[in-house]
Amino acid sequence: MHIDIISVLPELLDSPLQHSIMKRAQDKGLLTVKVHPLRQWAVNEYGQIDDYQYGGGAGMVMMCEPLAKAIEELSSQTEYGAFDEIIFLTPDGKKMEQSMVNGLSLKKRLLLICGHYKGIDERIREHFVTLEISIGDYVLSGGELPAAVLVDAIGRLLPGVLNDETSALFDSFQDDLLAPPVYTRPVDFRGWKVPDVLMSGDHRKIDEWRHEQSLTRTMQRRPGLGEK
Ligand code: ADE
Repeated sequence: MHIDIISVLPELLDSPLQHSIMKRAQDKGLLTVKVHPLRQWAVNEYGQIDDYQYGGGAGMVMMCEPLAKAIEELSSQTEYGAFDEIIFLTPDGKKMEQSMVNGLSLKKRLLLICGHYKGIDERIREHFVTLEISIGDYVLSGGELPAAVLVDAIGRLLPGVLNDETSALFDSFQDDLLAPPVYTRPVDFRGWKVPDVLMSGDHRKIDEWRHEQSLTRTMQRRPGLGEK
């Protein structure tokens, strides 16, 4: 999979994409991510990419021209094929969920647009963007961290990225259930013991116990999960 990201603050994306599983995905050639600084498509030599909003009001708006040029230029680079989705990260987008991430992980090429200031000119959303995603009902100062969250969630699902290929299948949310509790050595830490069943060696019983724990956790913590 190839992901292009258009950003005003590309530095914000450096670290999240260069470590751990995201690094492994890229080192293995399973994922390529390219961050494109928006200012290279600025409207003048001062690097302008935003302007006051029509109708008045506080806050700048990201202009059409730099974004349109960026999207068109990247679309014309066909090395990785056409964009399957052009995604704008925004608090008023569709709430990100595991099922959405699963679907996106099957695509070949994505373009992510990170917003800033008051947002981007509505005409870009109308004429270019195919999907708008929010990572939750709170407002961040820009779309870079949400983009990093999305790339991480997608990247770890790509076949071959995780060592134990099955482990993503058992993540919380994959079957609308939260994951069960997990334990490691020692068996007894300050008198706090690992549940006996996990030491029993009886895999049928262990699976049953984990499933029960998942159900209980989901009912207690997220009773609405899966109702959609
Ligand atoms: N940009 C600012 N806040 C955001 C959010 N919650 N989700 C996606 N993009 C955003």
